[in-house]
Amino acid sequence: MNNEEHFKNVISHSKEYGFIFPSSEIYDGLSAVYDYGTYGVELKNNIRNYWWKAMVQLNENIVGLDSAIFMHPTIWKASGHVDAFNDPLIDNKDSKKRYRADVLIEEYLAKQADKIEKEVEKAKKRFGEKFDEPLYRSTNPRITEIQTTINNVYSRFKKGMEESDLADLRQIIVDCEIVCPISGTKNWTDVRQFNLMFSTSMGAMEESSNQLYLRPETAQGIFVNFLNVQKTTRMKIPFGIAQTGKAFRNEIVARQFIFRMREFEQMEMQFFVQPGTEIEWYESWKKKRLAWHHNLGFPQTKYRFKDHTKLAHYANAAADIEFEFPFGFKEIEGIHSRTDFDLKSHEKFSGKKLQYFDPELNSSYVPYVVETSIGLDRMVLAILSQSLTKETLEDGTTRDVMNIPHFLAPVKAAVLPLMKKDGLPEKALELFNKLKLHSFCQYDEKDSIGKRYRRQDAIGTPYAITIDHQTLEDNTVTIRDRDTMKQERINMDEVESIVMKKVDITEALKRL
Ligand code: GAP
Repeated sequence: MNNEEHFKNVISHSKEYGFIFPSSEIYDGLSAVYDYGTYGVELKNNIRNYWWKAMVQLNENIVGLDSAIFMHPTIWKASGHVDAFNDPLIDNKDSKKRYRADVLIEEYLAKQADKIEKEVEKAKKRFGEKFDEPLYRSTNPRITEIQTTINNVYSRFKKGMEESDLADLRQIIVDCEIVCPISGTKNWTDVRQFNLMFSTSMGAMEESSNQLYLRPETAQGIFVNFLNVQKTTRMKIPFGIAQTGKAFRNEIVARQFIFRMREFEQMEMQFFVQPGTEIEWYESWKKKRLAWHHNLGFPQTKYRFKDHTKLAHYANAAADIEFEFPFGFKEIEGIHSRTDFDLKSHEKFSGKKLQYFDPELNSSYVPYVVETSIGLDRMVLAILSQSLTKETLEDGTTRDVMNIPHFLAPVKAAVLPLMKKDGLPEKALELFNKLKLHSFCQYDEKDSIGKRYRRQDAIGTPYAITIDHQTLEDNTVTIRDRDTMKQERINMDEVESIVMKKVDITEALKRL
């Protein structure tokens, strides 16, 4: 199965097995908005819990917050979102489809780079062992020609983005002969800036003074509460504030399932430090965050850092952690050294001091901030796409199995009476009632045992425990491992401790 087919499979599996549904489906859906089903919500809660515990529970110098989605509108002026949270938009006049101009150009550049790689691959096969790749790359006329085009377009594009030169962004699209993927034509409108914030109004009157925004990031709720939290927790710098919650962006190019949504959830932590120490902390948080991802047990080659070449106006260092989704390496988390931009700007706009008195230095200052910001929905997508496997078994049949890390699995164990009679359900319920006190478990007596195993494999349940007639005789049960499908007979009294130890988040936290 190629990546595209795998991705389609992830989307259909998510719907069929109750992970993710399109929003408002009976009304034909709402673009780039999704609902989480029974297993999706469990998975999402478990990932959030893993993040929260790794941040707040394991670090004595990080504390939590849950700020409101509605905030004073001036906050978004101070943060720069009103003036600068824009995407450059272009429409194709024939298909009437709207695109991000920067994405069209980036896709064009990626296609050119792809052409080079294909040429190199062909030459590798042709020349075999004798192939000198660096020499070929630097001398082959076709490759050097494409590379020159890439360099020229990229430097124009970078300048156009930095200077918001919308006319030149359009000209690049025209010069590169980029066509609309729907109409196939080059009939483009001008490029316009489009603000990504959703607005709404508060109160009975729809006056402009009551206009509010749905927050496009959770971070600003942390900045404006910086002193409230610091004073009430008596935290000393360096310390962090963590929060998770919904954010909203009117994304123009909302594609790729839950990768780019209009309503999504972020998990953000702002770490307040002494000015001058921020780069050290930035490096340390980069390492810590990558370790958090690696701890899931997926191949480490699935992750990489990508440094930002163009820094946002507020940052003095920034990198993304990218994950290899079925559609390629893409950002899953951002780590930014945000300087004192946000706090200083809120001081200016609110007229209130947001300074920290440092008892060791005996002076006050506006702290610098290192931010880690991760999309919860992107984590769900990473786990679903990495876990879903179609296996061909020895007897030639296939099974869909979700190899979700045990501590994140929606259902931790399924308790299955072999038959719906002879006292087996009662015995199974006895065990189930013990297990459910620890974690979300399921009792299932419907259909054949084979079908029930398959159902649990498809939602990623690590263990299935079967109660059969032998259980009534000697109190033993079979425990089936999702990944190996091996079954072992153990005493029913041991199930609780064995299973719960294997699925417990504590073991995962210990590894961090
Ligand atoms: N406070 C910094 C901030 O918001 P960002 O890079 O814009 O930075 C952080 O967003 C993370 O939020 C991203 O790495 C991504 O995982 C997630 N994210 C951003 N936009 C998203 C969207 N439209 N849909 C889903 N997740 C999104």
